[in-house]
Amino acid sequence: MRTIEVSLGSRSYPVHIAPGLLDQSGPLVREHLGEAAVAVVTDDRVGPIYLERVLASLRGSGLRAVSVTLPHGEKTKCLEQAAELYRFFAEHHITRRDAVLALGGGVMGDLGGFAAATWLRGVRFVQLPTSLLAQVDSSVGGKVAVDLPEGKNLVGAFHQPSLVLCDPRALDTLPEEFWRDGLGEVAKYGAIRDENLFRLLEEAAPLGRQGLMVRMDEILGRCIACKADIVSRDELDTGERAILNFGHSLGHAVETCQRYSGLHHGEAVAAGMAAITRLSEKQGLTEPGTAARIEALLTALGLPARLPEIPADQLRAALRRDKKAEGDGLRVVLLERIGRCFTRLVQPETFFADLG
Ligand code: GLY
Repeated sequence: MRTIEVSLGSRSYPVHIAPGLLDQSGPLVREHLGEAAVAVVTDDRVGPIYLERVLASLRGSGLRAVSVTLPHGEKTKCLEQAAELYRFFAEHHITRRDAVLALGGGVMGDLGGFAAATWLRGVRFVQLPTSLLAQVDSSVGGKVAVDLPEGKNLVGAFHQPSLVLCDPRALDTLPEEFWRDGLGEVAKYGAIRDENLFRLLEEAAPLGRQGLMVRMDEILGRCIACKADIVSRDELDTGERAILNFGHSLGHAVETCQRYSGLHHGEAVAAGMAAITRLSEKQGLTEPGTAARIEALLTALGLPARLPEIPADQLRAALRRDKKAEGDGLRVVLLERIGRCFTRLVQPETFFADLG
């Protein structure tokens, strides 16, 4: 078992990575949390596949475990479903000694974590992420939230988990579009912070999903080590965490212009990483050849390396409205070369002039 510690003083926690951890959740939760009752929150896609195994492991370790299954999908990440969870916790007498366990992808982690952060002013929280995106990104870091009709993640908290259990075997049942979604974020870690990971991906990507799965323990370990290190130094997202947004400004602009019904998040981020690196390379800010390497890797991973057909002025308008905008400028993440990045305040009109 690989273990990566997220070092946050008294809020430090381990992320364990190993095939088969789903069936070890009982002993591991008991070891870390003691005699807690566990409220398992899952959705109607993941629950039918994994819930019984997790409940059996928790109960087999002598823990009281109860579960609730919600509809899958981003629409579930809302205040109404949080209220459903509060009613469920009340009915099952979840006290401050107890814990919430989120079993599923980012929606379950964000919603379950938000409910854990607010129930009784905060109870402990375990993440058992089953999607690649949740394993490498959303299960670590403590940002939990729900969406409002006015926008995504508008109501939330920082509430670090007490324990994260990453089982790469859970990815075996991940639908292809969610697999690709996660790969976009995996490539991002290599690009901004870990050239060895980028090389590993360059080697494994041509072998397809099976080839990547053979190296998945190491891939997860490297991504999570990057995230843990960045979160440890910027828990509340006031500085260094910004580098995790590489590719996201353009990616979000694409998602907004497509009204969230076009590219998946990871695909939009992938196209955004390639496009911004082409621009920064042309402007002499990035080592020559970097954009070509990014494009080649994304293509081998089955991800888009080109922005979809959206008029450039629409994309620039969406970029100006980006929440990372500072006055007239926008703070973007650029690569110096593969494995090294920096942030820069740019004028959207000039930096992105050559988008179309
Ligand atoms: N929960 C994701 C993060 O904190 O970055």
